[in-house]
Amino acid sequence: MGRTLKKQADTGLPGSALRQEFPVFSQSDTNLAFLDSAASSQKPRCVIDRLVRYLSFEHANIHRGAYRLSGEATARFEESRAVLARFVNAPSPASIVFTRGTTEAVNLVAYAAESFFRPGDTILLTILEHHSNIVPWQMLAARKKLRIEFVDILDSGELDIDDFEHKVEKHKPKLVSITKVSNALGSIVPLESLIPVAKQAGAMVFVDAAQAVPHGDVDVVALGADFLAFSGHKMYGPTGIGVLYAREELLEKMAPFMGGGDMIEQVAVEGSTWAAHPQKFEAGTPAIAEAIALQTAVEFMQQVGLDAIRAHEAELFSYAVTALQEHSDITLYGPVTVGRPQASIVSFTVAGIHPHDLATVADSHNVQFRAGHHCAMPLLKRLGVTATARISFGVYNTKADVDQLLGAISAARKLFA
Ligand code: ALA
Repeated sequence: MGRTLKKQADTGLPGSALRQEFPVFSQSDTNLAFLDSAASSQKPRCVIDRLVRYLSFEHANIHRGAYRLSGEATARFEESRAVLARFVNAPSPASIVFTRGTTEAVNLVAYAAESFFRPGDTILLTILEHHSNIVPWQMLAARKKLRIEFVDILDSGELDIDDFEHKVEKHKPKLVSITKVSNALGSIVPLESLIPVAKQAGAMVFVDAAQAVPHGDVDVVALGADFLAFSGHKMYGPTGIGVLYAREELLEKMAPFMGGGDMIEQVAVEGSTWAAHPQKFEAGTPAIAEAIALQTAVEFMQQVGLDAIRAHEAELFSYAVTALQEHSDITLYGPVTVGRPQASIVSFTVAGIHPHDLATVADSHNVQFRAGHHCAMPLLKRLGVTATARISFGVYNTKADVDQLLGAISAARKLFA
């Protein structure tokens, strides 16, 4: 990074100094309370600058050119892969495949690992999952005649551990695909104790870490995951870039996902052979600028400090929950309602106001958050609601953003109640 960031502690007000690193907040005509980082985070200047520098002065296609710009771009792209590998404690950069994001990573495995499955095999999912960790497996199940089972939750929105153990024992799934943090409720899934249960029963385990990695606490070795995926754009990086981690023995056995340039060893009219992983899964010109800027996003998070990020978000979460719980017309969802830990995501409804209406009124007060089913329709159906409002925090948020939200909720009450 070009310059040293001012730490939050310099000001005594979490988020306020770091906010200056995000150009979106410097637009003079708005006082934006951006509370939708779980959907996509805002971008710090260092990431934006890295994209501009690469595209301005450093660009050429990678893995192809025997000239300086190409060689240097290749080295930067591969350096980013190595940084991403270290960030999640992957044993080797070769176990890191660049994808467009978490969704593409799930689809990649659902196609490329198709030969691992036999008709009648079971894939075990949970009711907490985002659609991107449901639909690709349903498509695989239709192609290969597989069964899909879902682990239930408790009414608090926590995974039902007994049901998990029961369904692993009963169905002996070939694959368990499970989130680390629910995008809709912020429920934290205790994967450290669940993955050994699944592995013991012979399952492969895919972890959706899209909502966990932005808070910096993912270690693929400690988890024992076979596959793990996350998106760059939720962790202060660019859109269009994400990561699939997979154990190398599995990558070796998997078929390519897409065919084309850069993923081959030899091509002849009679047929083709594949490059070794990870190139085998990276057909075509990849998102080079985005991959390189994702390294900058990781360095940004590390410079702020992963512990500091978590502490800051936890403080905002408590502040928001305490404030929202003071209002009898507000219903919260998720483990916090029973005093249990929850990630920095708060789902709620306000009596008499549809979440979409609430979000529209809030937007007119420069408070932006997501409303709807959050791409988790089975979960919301299980909770007996069709939509919630959802706020989520990033390093740039402050308590003033929460206060602005409360003001917007009051304004909506006046309009609708
Ligand atoms: N998965 C993103 C969200 O939860 C888009 O909002």
